[in-house]
Parts: sequence; C-alpha cells; structure tokens
Amino acid sequence: MALTPEAEAARRRTFAIIAHPDAGKTTLTENLLLAGGAIRMAGAVKARGERRRTMSDWMKIERDRGISVSASVMTFEYENCVFNLLDTPGHEDFSEDTYRTLTAADSAIMVLDAAKGIEPQTLKLFEVCRLRDIPIITYINKMDREAQDPFQLLDEIEQKLAMTASPLYWPQGSGERLRGMKDLRTGEFVTYQRIVAHDGSVDFKTERVGADRFDEMMSADEKIELEEQAEMAAGVCKPYDHQSYREGHMTPVVFGSALRHFGVKELLDTILLEAPAPRVQKAKVKGNPTPVGPENKEVTGFVFKIQANMDPNHRDRIAFFRMVSGRFQRGMRLKTVAGKQIGITSPVMFMAQDREIADEAFGGDVIGIPNHGALRVGDALSESGNVQFQGIPNFAPEILRRVRTKDPMKSKHLRKALEGLAEEGVTQLFTPEIGSDMIVGAVGQLQIEVMAERIATENNLEVLFEASPWAAARWLASEDAPKLNAFLESNRSAVAKDLDGAPVYLAKNAWDVGYVSERNPAIRFTKTKERV
Ligand code: G4P
Repeated sequence: MALTPEAEAARRRTFAIIAHPDAGKTTLTENLLLAGGAIRMAGAVKARGERRRTMSDWMKIERDRGISVSASVMTFEYENCVFNLLDTPGHEDFSEDTYRTLTAADSAIMVLDAAKGIEPQTLKLFEVCRLRDIPIITYINKMDREAQDPFQLLDEIEQKLAMTASPLYWPQGSGERLRGMKDLRTGEFVTYQRIVAHDGSVDFKTERVGADRFDEMMSADEKIELEEQAEMAAGVCKPYDHQSYREGHMTPVVFGSALRHFGVKELLDTILLEAPAPRVQKAKVKGNPTPVGPENKEVTGFVFKIQANMDPNHRDRIAFFRMVSGRFQRGMRLKTVAGKQIGITSPVMFMAQDREIADEAFGGDVIGIPNHGALRVGDALSESGNVQFQGIPNFAPEILRRVRTKDPMKSKHLRKALEGLAEEGVTQLFTPEIGSDMIVGAVGQLQIEVMAERIATENNLEVLFEASPWAAARWLASEDAPKLNAFLESNRSAVAKDLDGAPVYLAKNAWDVGYVSERNPAIRFTKTKERV
C-alpha cells in the first residue's frame, strides 16, 4: 500500500557534509553511496583530477556539468530510508552557495581530519549550521593515519564549537596500530582489519563482533588499553542524548577511515537512527507567519540553488527545488507567490551518478526543475501560490567591481549575461540610479573570476573588471515610506537597484555605512536580503 506523503517524508534524511578541503568529504561521499548500495565501486563520484581545488579544475567541473550536477544532490536508499545528500562547495569563496545549500538540509555531517581537528573552513561552515539550528553528527576521518589523541579531539570540538561532543564509539589506536572501535552503547567492537592477499595486495575488512572475540582482534595490552580508555571516556564524556543532538547542543561522534570503508556503515546507521526527518519550515501563508511541514497536504517547497547550462546544447537552467510537503507528481503545475505558474513536466531526480525523471517526490526530496530563467533562488512554489518560505537570504557582497565589455556595442549582451548569472546567484548585479554602469558584487574573488570565464565561454564576450568607487552594499528597507523615498532622492549618486529592483545603498567604505545609517535611524541598512 502506498504510504501517505507524511509517512514518505518521515523516511527521508536530507543532509549535507561540511568539511575543510581535504578532510575527506569526497571520499566519504563515495563510500556512503557504496555502503548504501547506490554504487558498486568507490571512486565514481568525481574523477581524481577534479579533487584539486585549483581555479582551472573548478572550471573544468563547471564545464562538465553532468558530473558536477550529479554531485550536487545524491539520492540513495538504505534500510528503507531515502537519503538525500546535498553537496556543498568546499572553497570558501562559495560560502553563499554553501549557506543556501544548508537551508535545504535537515542535518549535517561534519568531517574532521583526525590529525588536524577543527580547521578554519570547518569553523565557518559550522557557524552556518548553528545559525540555522542544524543538528550535526561528527565523523573523525583518517584514523588509518597517525591521529591526535581522541580526548584531545573531543576537547577541541567542545572548546571551539561550544557544543558537547559525545563519542558513540571509542577507537583503539590509529595509523598502523588501528584495530577498530568499541561501540560504547552496546559493548561490541567494530574491527579494522588489514588483509594481505597472496599476491601482496592489501584489502581492508570491517565487521562487528561481540566482546567474546576481542582477543582475536588485538593483543592483551591493546585490550587493556581499550578497556581503560573506554571507561575513562564513559566517565569524562557526557552520554549521548538524542534530544540534545536534535537541539544542536551535542554532537555524536563516530571515528573512521572513509578511504578504508571503516566506520562508514556506523555513520550511515547513526544518520538513519538519529538524524531528523524533514523539518517544519518558517513560512508565510497569504502573508501570515505560518509554519509549513510535512503534515501539510499541499505540495510546497523552495528553490535553493540554480545551475545554468547543465546541458551545453541547450541554454537551460535547473532550479534545485527542496520539497517541504505533499505528494509531487510529474506534470503538476505549481505557483510562486507572485502568481507565476510553472508546469513541471520533466523534473529531474539525482540517483547516485545518474539523472532520472522523477515521477513522484515528497517532503525532504530535491528535484531539479528545468526552466529558462523563470525561477530564482528563494522562490517558493506551491499548488495554491499562497506559500512563501523564509530564511533564504542574499548576502551583501564584499567585492564590488564595475564591468564593461571591450566592445561598447556589446553592452546590452553583457547586461543579459550578468542578469543570468545574478539569477543563478553566482554574483549580484547592481544598477546605479545615475549613469549606465553595471556593478557586480561577489562574496569572493574566485566568483569574479568564474564569472569572467563563463561570460567569455558562454557568451563570447570579453569583459573588463574595473575598480569601483564602492566598497560595500546594503539593502534598504523601512516602514516609513516617505522617509525612505526622501533618502533615496537625496542620495541618488549612491543608490542602485538590485536584480529585483530593490534599493541598495552603495557605500565608499565601512565607516560610510555606519555614519549614514546612524543619521537615518528610520531606515534599515541590511547585509542580507530575504525574498519576503
Ligand atoms: P575533500 O573532498 O574533503 O577535499 O577530500 P577528499 O575526499 O578529496 O580527500 C582528500 C585526500 O585525503 C585524498 O587524497 C584522499 O584519498 C585522502 N583521504 C580521504 N579519506 C581518507 C582516509 O580515511 N584515510 C586516508 N589515509 N586518506 C584519506 P589524494 O587525493 O589521494 O591525494 P593526497 O592529498 O593524499 O595527495
């Protein structure tokens, strides 16, 4: 019998992996898919060369959209649950994109390198999770290499992230001396065995064994050490508390080696049993604050990411649509709050490496909606057109550049190209009230470079970026319309419109922002802009 949409949503786990570059996110992703049975051989998610986070390789990934897209969302089934893994870009210049992706995740896996602990990018991504109250499971990776002392690692998590770290397992050794880890809740042991075949090739095996088989797995000294350490951990560390994890105060910790398939099934089981099913989302229904969750019958959801030109033969865009509620069926027509109707005839689902047409989707699922620019990041879609979700902001850019083409005759083309990239959320486009400049804003330099490269290859335009007199942009809002209008009028030389026509104040420096906002208390100068 078919399950209700609510029951279908309840068996979804939609999560993202956050990690500092090189901690092992890609390797873990491959091995989660492998352990979940979605792929038969590890190494299929991304080709090796693409792991290098250099500018040129990022471009290569972008050009080879087939791969980068299938890596954006990966869906697989495990133990009668549907896992939707959202990929987050690793480079810090893409923090805005990452932030938006996390708006679509119900929980996160934080991958740490056992030798390095918390790294700068881990911290930044963690802060985004905290901002959104996203519960986090920690996976301490690379235990097959010399690692820091587990107590030290747990202490670092607690100190730097102000969150209780509760180990679900306790490792015995690391590197060459890694034997496995003890399940602190059941007392069983998850082994890590290095098996050398006749031909000298090495394979790694992991299995769960009872306490009666500890002697086979390690020496007497190691066994004593494990018992002592596990006992100490039980004394020092707070026992795992499901509620506290869900509230974001505690992170359960699993140790492992993604490369050697160790601890991966244990992580998957932890996600299965502990991670939340699709959450209730903050929304406005007919303008009134009303939370919307999987129990709602209506099909609702929001666009959290746009990717363009996924198929180089068609200038199409795919809007990544995170379902919040209802039973979506192929061919449905959904509406935005602005009344735009979108017929969804060929929605795409991302099963491991393949794209498939989705016939049905439920709360927690992500489907790709091909469109020609009708959808924007932050747009909500629903059957009634009455629902708008909150909390998917645009960020104030930290880099503002004036853009023009070498050939002034092509300036209209350039504007179109810039608008397209702004719709995707790659960069932002500001049009000053006075003059004919086009100002682009980005949160990082790499985005500017990516933009130049894409305009060159996709639009055949050579663009020039010039320093602009502006150093900061703030969105303007006020309940007092006459005051806002008066401000806009008297500051015309520093006012621009964003892609949606919303007013933006362009400041020459941070001091300018402070000074002007202090003198205009009725007006809000905000660093983020929400669609509602
Ligand atoms: P990322 O996506 O987080 O950036 O990391 P990725 O999975 O690409 O892993 C980064 C490197 O770390 C890779 O090495 C990968 O093989 C290695 N790695 C990942 N997980 C483990 C693990 O559990 N144990 C060990 N020993 N290594 C792991 P690489 O691309 O081959 O090159 P290199 O960085 O070693 O030169």
